[in-house]
Amino acid sequence: MILRWLTAGESHGPCLTGIVEGMPAGVPLTADDLGRDLWRRQQGYGRGGRMKIESDHAEILGGVWRGKTTGGPIALRIENRDWPNWKDKEYDLPRMTVPRPGHADLAGVYKYGFDDIRPVLERASARETAMRVAVGGVAKQLLAEFGITIRSQVLRIGQAKATPGDLSDPAVVERVEASVVRVADPESEERLKAAVDAAKDRRDTLGGVFEVVAFGVMPGLGSHVQWDRKLDGRLAQAVMSIQAIKAVAIGDGFVAGERYGTEAHDGITMRNGRVERLTNRAGGLEGGITNGEPVVVRVVKKPISTTATPQPTVDLDTLEDVPSQYVRSDVCAVPAAAVIGEAMVAVVLADALLEKFGSDSIEQMRTNVNGFLESIKTWWRPSSEAVESAHT
Ligand SMILES: Cc1cc2nc3c(=O)[nH]c(=O)nc-3n(C[C@H](O)[C@H](O)[C@H](O)COP(=O)(O)O)c2cc1C
Repeated sequence: MILRWLTAGESHGPCLTGIVEGMPAGVPLTADDLGRDLWRRQQGYGRGGRMKIESDHAEILGGVWRGKTTGGPIALRIENRDWPNWKDKEYDLPRMTVPRPGHADLAGVYKYGFDDIRPVLERASARETAMRVAVGGVAKQLLAEFGITIRSQVLRIGQAKATPGDLSDPAVVERVEASVVRVADPESEERLKAAVDAAKDRRDTLGGVFEVVAFGVMPGLGSHVQWDRKLDGRLAQAVMSIQAIKAVAIGDGFVAGERYGTEAHDGITMRNGRVERLTNRAGGLEGGITNGEPVVVRVVKKPISTTATPQPTVDLDTLEDVPSQYVRSDVCAVPAAAVIGEAMVAVVLADALLEKFGSDSIEQMRTNVNGFLESIKTWWRPSSEAVESAHT
């Protein structure tokens, strides 16, 4: 792994901290570049009260000089605006002894030997994903230097399915970004919002499915030669590590097992002056290597674990069956999870890019990328250039 990163911090601690190591020098990076994605993570129909308290802002404390990366580790900090309400309570809060189904509570207590669930839930909370989004924002800055952009949309909330939009179309992306459920189609938006309303009415929660698509990815990232170099596996691991994610597919992976071979793969043809694919069912990856088509990752998020309707559990002190307790929570966080998914796809692609073309500065890296693209230009060029060459 060339691009290494770690997060630290608790849900109700003073701040989240992140370190990103391995970025080349010369990549433009300011706190504003990270702010928009942090804001996008806090949106979405069905979010709970905390999103109203906090508006996240990432400070850059190291690794950037006059708006550009230095090649040194990048230090990030996101203040928890809720901290003043919690800072004096740490030693006064009553012990929490009733584990909530669907959370890390019970397994974490077994593992670490705590007599209180709080230290587990404080770190297991999806609050940590704010820092992942900031780290992903750093990775996106590197990808942008090479024309790689990452988009996402929601495909389903509970039983309500959305009509997917073509994320290569900027007008579609604009509609997705304006939508509280991250869909382009207005009827789908109403359907998905109604599903969230229905879940709330029955004092319940919902999960769903989203997709992340990376455009402009050149062929040749990742490798077929060893299990831990396969890019599909690396993407799956990173995205699966997001809180509440339970399944990850590359391209049409969720339905590929139902199809004939002739209906499952992507035919190859000469078009627009380059070798192109007739479809992109493989989601831009074959043999763990990018094939020059957009990289498509589809993801299932389970329903929010904390439900207003109690779930069966046990008090670990009294050993009695008791109902789970409710604290105000999200009803649905699939749109936010899609933004976090973008961040995880960004860090994996940035890592793969550095692995193949990495150097100490962005300019040296550009030379490496251009040399590679030159070497394959008989067959593959970025789509904008391919269309141009077809017209000349
Ligand atoms: C963006 C986002 C927001 C979440 N918000 C909540 C929430 O408000 N309440 C809750 O119980 N779980 C929430 N979760 C899910 C839990 O964090 C997650 O299910 C829990 O940590 C257990 O992890 P696991 O499901 O990956 O095993 C959220 C997850 C994400 C990705």
